[in-house]
Amino acid sequence: MSVTPEAIRAALKQIVDPDLRADIVSLGYVKELAVDGGRVRFTIELGTHTSSLRETVGDQARAVVSSIDGVEAVDVTVAVRVRSATAPEKGGPPLPGVKNVIAVGAGKGGVGKTTVSVNLALALSKAGARVGVLDGDIYGPNVPLMLGLKAELTTDGRQIRPAEKFGLQVVSLAFMTGDDQAVIWRGPMVHSAIQQFFRDVGWKDLDYLIIDMPPGTGDVALSLSQTVAVAGAVVVTTPQQVSLADSRRAVRMYQKLNIPTLGIVENMSYYACPNCHHESDIFGFGGGEEIATTMEVPFMGRLPVYQPISLGSDRGIPIVIAEPDSAAARAFGQVAEKVAAQVAVNAHRNAVANKGKIPLIQVR
Ligand SMILES: Nc1ncnc2c1ncn2[C@@H]1O[C@H](COP(=O)(O)OP(=O)(O)OP(=O)(O)O)[C@@H](O)[C@H]1O
Ligand SMILES: [Mg+2]
Repeated sequence: MSVTPEAIRAALKQIVDPDLRADIVSLGYVKELAVDGGRVRFTIELGTHTSSLRETVGDQARAVVSSIDGVEAVDVTVAVRVRSATAPEKGGPPLPGVKNVIAVGAGKGGVGKTTVSVNLALALSKAGARVGVLDGDIYGPNVPLMLGLKAELTTDGRQIRPAEKFGLQVVSLAFMTGDDQAVIWRGPMVHSAIQQFFRDVGWKDLDYLIIDMPPGTGDVALSLSQTVAVAGAVVVTTPQQVSLADSRRAVRMYQKLNIPTLGIVENMSYYACPNCHHESDIFGFGGGEEIATTMEVPFMGRLPVYQPISLGSDRGIPIVIAEPDSAAARAFGQVAEKVAAQVAVNAHRNAVANKGKIPLIQVR
């Protein structure tokens, strides 16, 4: 009996992506399916570098396909292609060179937006994604400090060229103004500077562009939403009641701007002792998760207060690089995993909503 591509696809439908709760055939992950007598070859293209399927999907696929009558050999390649979760009809146009713009914001200053932006970017990059960071904090740009990066803005005559550090593409207004100079921004300047910063950078082939948002009111968020299509926002909170109330406002602000909240991260959530590694809930427990639940947005996890996080930021070596095996760095890794998964979920939702236009399965 001859083996058919339909039989292969039917067998592969048994494998389900637990993040997206759909099978890998319907998700369009199966590519380059070729059947040659009893020999079967195909690629499985996952949607995130951190997918829990990454380790096992090759073996699972081999097992289900091998059990089809007539199959003699199975050649599976596992790859990753991050899909775009931006829905251009909901905001500005897509940003060239970037699949997913992710804003990291908060309702409040000093809760750890920049710390989360930088370490989230590094964790995604370590997992294998192509990642950039845009310092959107025009009032106090400190992404370069946290990355230990001193750079002048360079252009290729047409576009701003991002600096590179730890494998990230980085652009900051600090490159233009110098570390210590006070910059006074008036409303229209803010908008035009942001437009330029969002549109005139030559980002190269990024899966995720993390934007470190400034504290406070939504003028930058508004300009952002009008300038480019944003895949979503990550809202950083701390466990204190004031910050929680502010975070609620931040989620609502992004909703108004048509930017979906990918999730809430609770930073400085509990104390992790650098010496004995004991962890204690000095601020109570569960505040961030509770507002995530009441606002019906995903909860992305808790990050400890851990002194080496701030020391590393001051030295320009973020914790994900400085202590990659620490519990704190692992906590950032888990947040990165959740953020990437939520982007993939949203990308899938958009694709299903546009089903008529986007072919879900492409088999050659
Ligand atoms: N989890 C943490 N453990 C220890 N220190 C932290 C942690 N998160 C942030 N910090 C420290 O808290 C301070 C504020 O963090 P950060 O600059 O990231 O906040 P921010 O929200 O970006 O602030 P701003 O509103 O001023 O932009 C920094 O000194 C940083 O090193
Ligand atoms: Mg900041």
